[in-house]
Amino acid sequence: MISTANWWETGVIYQIYPRSFMDGNGDGVGDLAGITRRLDYLQWLGIDILWICPVFPSPMADFGYDISAYTAVHPLFGTMAEFDDLIAAAHRRDMRILLDFVPNHTSEEHPWFIESRSSRDNPRRDWYIWRDPGPNGGPPNNWLANFGGIAWEWDEATEQYYYHAYLKQQPDLNWRNAEVEAAMFEVMRFWLRKGIDGFRLDAIWHLAKDPLLRNNPPNPDFDPQRQRSYDALREIFSADHPDIHPILHRMRRLVEEFGDKILLGEIYLPPERLVAYYGSPRAPELHLPHNFELIFTPWRPEALAATIRCLEDQLPEGAWPTWLLGNHDRPRLASRLGPAQTRIAAMLLLTLRGTPTLYQGDELGIENVPVPKEHILDPWEKNNPGLGLGRDPVRTPMPWDESAYAGFSRVEPWLPLNQDWPQRNVAAQKKDRGSLLMFYRHLLDLRRSHAALTSGNFRLVQAGDGLLAYLCEQKRERMLVALNFEKDKKMLRPTGNCLGRVVLSSEGDRKDEIFSGQARLRPHEGLIIRLG
Ligand code: NOJ
Repeated sequence: MISTANWWETGVIYQIYPRSFMDGNGDGVGDLAGITRRLDYLQWLGIDILWICPVFPSPMADFGYDISAYTAVHPLFGTMAEFDDLIAAAHRRDMRILLDFVPNHTSEEHPWFIESRSSRDNPRRDWYIWRDPGPNGGPPNNWLANFGGIAWEWDEATEQYYYHAYLKQQPDLNWRNAEVEAAMFEVMRFWLRKGIDGFRLDAIWHLAKDPLLRNNPPNPDFDPQRQRSYDALREIFSADHPDIHPILHRMRRLVEEFGDKILLGEIYLPPERLVAYYGSPRAPELHLPHNFELIFTPWRPEALAATIRCLEDQLPEGAWPTWLLGNHDRPRLASRLGPAQTRIAAMLLLTLRGTPTLYQGDELGIENVPVPKEHILDPWEKNNPGLGLGRDPVRTPMPWDESAYAGFSRVEPWLPLNQDWPQRNVAAQKKDRGSLLMFYRHLLDLRRSHAALTSGNFRLVQAGDGLLAYLCEQKRERMLVALNFEKDKKMLRPTGNCLGRVVLSSEGDRKDEIFSGQARLRPHEGLIIRLG
């Protein structure tokens, strides 16, 4: 297929959580050499773009999202030479690499913060957000930290508070200081010079805050039984400040200095606010602002149709959507939706208009892995016990084969494997033509060979109760996708003149079956039908 679309529009992103992908040096933790060793697998699967979670020096208070040196590699993950090898090996396979960049905060052990906290008149004092106590002697305002508790930490030595949107070990940088921007842009240049293809920007909607530090208003819908303490307030003043946009525009210009490079961003905002992060044609910002709508929308056809329509309707001219159904922060897809729905989930993600991101292990249907209380590592869970927020269960090692420790490591891994690893692993599913893994591979292959599925127009169609159906259309190619969300059979009867042939069923059969305007879908079945 010859395509004129951009690589980041037609490509499929695969998120690698390096601690758990593949252990190359036998210490129980995944690393860069391990990723390089498994590139053949990713190529076989049909992946185009790898997003690699942080591999930089870090005290690991937040498992790498607390960075203490931006232009080095943590010895746990390997060496800079191994990083270079990974880029070269990926590029030889025509795969691109996106690096996770954490611009909002550093580790408290970063030399910049050590300097900043050393005295009130240190030249780097203003690189972070320091404030005197509020009028009552307590914190400067009511802002809360994402991971629990208040967002201000008292510094005994210099008698001021510093601000942290996440853990107290992750002080927020002050992007209103031009030196911070210059230093961070140099970090980006460092990695771009190494040949990476872009960045995933962590927590980017937190980058600038209200300069007056006004109190956040209470959230009238807050339910402490279900929600983390952070949700007691609405993050009106602490996040999504308009001053973020000019910074992102400058960041976009910076990456463009290096050619065809991209910015993917993490943004937990509703669609109407998220779309601002695309910028405008005159001042573009992110190429792909990740939205989490498919994770938060109830798994029902009408609700999903409304979500997809809502995002599509809000997209600025020329903006390209991007979708995901799982990541290293949210419960596993197979646990949220139930194993029976994993195939239509894959069909939805890989046929919607936009760039999809797969999270490692979802292609095997791994569920949340129970982690005994005494082994819990994730600070989010530790600070909010009992709410089911723990991220350890979704960060467990990739099971590669039937050998000891599932071929992930030679020793006991840092987190437990999925209990069903002897059956649910890459090698076993590769041998089974009916496995979820083989289905993903088939779907990815189909996607690549039909322009309508990668860069076509998208139109929802009425097709019957319990079903989500839509058309993907490009030039003369029209594909109808129909997904059954129910555990009962459903009749697919799309409106309009629809005749064609089945190209794929989630059950692996029915290929070439003639579609004469209606068809019965089995429980949880999805069909892709080529019309005309
Ligand atoms: C979002 C990341 O995905 C998450 O894992 C991390 O804990 C926070 N940002 C803080 O950096």
